[in-house]
Amino acid sequence: MKLLSLLLFSMLLLILRSFEHTSAACHVDDHAGLLAFKSGITHDPSGMLSSWKPGTDCCSWGGISCLDKIRVNTIRLSGNPDKPNGYLTGSISPSLVKVQNLDGIYFFDLNITGRFPDVLFRLPNLKFIYIENNKLSGPLPSDIGKMTQLYDLSLSGNQFTGLIPSSIAELTQLGQLKLGNNLLTGPIPLGISKLAQLSFLSLKNNKLSGTIPDFFSSLTNLRILELSHNKFSGKIPNSIASLAPNLAYLELGHNALTGTIPSFLGKFKALDTLDLSWNNFTETVPKSFGNLTKIFNLDLSHNSLGDPFPVMNVKGIESLDLSYNKFHLEKILNWVTSSPIIYSLKLAKCGIKMNLNDWKPKETYFYDYIDLSYNEISGSPVWLMNKTDYLVGFWASGNKLKFDLGSLKVAGTLKNLELSRNLAYGKVPKSVSGLESLNLSYNHLCGQLPSTKFPASAFVGNDCLCGAPLPPCKVKGE
Ligand SMILES: *[C@@H]1O[C@H](CO)[C@@H](O)[C@H](O)[C@H]1NC(C)=O
Ligand SMILES: *[C@@H]1O[C@H](CO)[C@@H](O)[C@H](O)[C@H]1NC(C)=O
Ligand SMILES: *[C@@H]1O[C@H](CO)[C@@H](O)[C@H](O)[C@H]1NC(C)=O
Ligand SMILES: *[C@@H]1O[C@H](CO)[C@@H](O)[C@H](O)[C@H]1NC(C)=O
Ligand SMILES: *[C@@H]1O[C@H](CO)[C@@H](O)[C@H](O)[C@H]1NC(C)=O
Repeated sequence: MKLLSLLLFSMLLLILRSFEHTSAACHVDDHAGLLAFKSGITHDPSGMLSSWKPGTDCCSWGGISCLDKIRVNTIRLSGNPDKPNGYLTGSISPSLVKVQNLDGIYFFDLNITGRFPDVLFRLPNLKFIYIENNKLSGPLPSDIGKMTQLYDLSLSGNQFTGLIPSSIAELTQLGQLKLGNNLLTGPIPLGISKLAQLSFLSLKNNKLSGTIPDFFSSLTNLRILELSHNKFSGKIPNSIASLAPNLAYLELGHNALTGTIPSFLGKFKALDTLDLSWNNFTETVPKSFGNLTKIFNLDLSHNSLGDPFPVMNVKGIESLDLSYNKFHLEKILNWVTSSPIIYSLKLAKCGIKMNLNDWKPKETYFYDYIDLSYNEISGSPVWLMNKTDYLVGFWASGNKLKFDLGSLKVAGTLKNLELSRNLAYGKVPKSVSGLESLNLSYNHLCGQLPSTKFPASAFVGNDCLCGAPLPPCKVKGE
């Protein structure tokens, strides 16, 4: 009898202990706040929150981390945009306020809907907000500046509309401000110049307008400045020059900027990526660009820039696009030819007049994209395509390339092949049928077409191609 009661007692103790170790381990308010958050999620097809069970230790739940094993301090949930079930649908419950020690919210690629969640104002320890690639909408709150404790604010990839609130100037501790890929309108608030700690400012891909403010002399910690894909007009402001020591990424492409490219950009010792494409910059590329010895990505395409192109001293350019300006480069530039790491070369309509067989690139292995369209290039691309294993796109329409199309290697990775208006001869190989886009019009090709999904306009203007989508081949003896 004694033994039995001792056994019962110790079992009871064990049960109590295990209870203590589960629900008692994380703070009861955090436990309740997170379950309330879960109840605001209407659809969780991949079971991202399946470990969030009542009565268990919330510090052990997926995506949760705790301070001192008791208080929840971060929630980190990431969807997978490549998978049909890789998301989480719902809204952010106001009861999240119970998780009072939260200092970081990281929601990536989910499907969180609703307006800017007011509950964020009532979490006094919150320092990091990353709600990226979700479906938040409506305006940004005009009193967003009350969250003065914030270090990072990223709301990129949502559907926010309206102006960037001027109170954002109060968030003086911000290191990162990312509002890109939304539907924001109006000018850049001048108060952003007060955010002296900023290292990352991204407003790209919105509908912002006006000039780029001349306020960068107080923002010398900036490493990344992304203002591309907006409607900014006017010139590149002079105060950008103060970013020379630290700026690594300057992206101003796809706007309506005018004037000349300032020569002070040549002093940007840390510059990795410069995108000025799709604007209306005129005159020449400054000689000082010769000093950009460490630039990896340079995109000046779709402007009105003219000769001469400066002599560059960069050892390894990775991607270069000078297409659709007013250059007459005559040949592929030496610093491109000698790059051991280049993967993307776009020199469409650059006035190149060489024979491709004379081109001796140091390395072709890494090439993904080559665009040499609308130049006066003769010779054959067969050797070049045979030396690339990962080519995705080859564009060379509007040249004088003369080669047997049947001997062209179509790499398994190739998706786009455009060779219209050249002097290619021979037959169309079967291997082109797997491509996503193809244009072989206006060459000297002949013979029966293999079956493909491409329209007649991809094949017209050749010597004697026949078969669908062109007229049928003549039967012998007919
Ligand atoms: C995202 O949420 C919206 C609104 O709840 C819903 O209509 C949509 O189907 C969801 N998208 C996915 C991929 O579940
Ligand atoms: C670009 O500027 C040039 C010279 O100022 C002007 O002639 C041209 O129309 C402009 N192009 C665009 C697309 O604005
Ligand atoms: C490159 O930098 C050096 C040293 O700062 C300077 O003397 C030279 O003029 C610069 N070159 C160009 C083309 O700006
Ligand atoms: C392509 O390269 C392979 C191996 O380097 C070589 O054997 C072949 O002859 C080349 N083909 C053409 C058309 O150059
Ligand atoms: C192929 O190029 C020609 C002109 O070069 C153009 O007219 C035609 O629309 C293009 N077809 C396809 C399918 O891209």
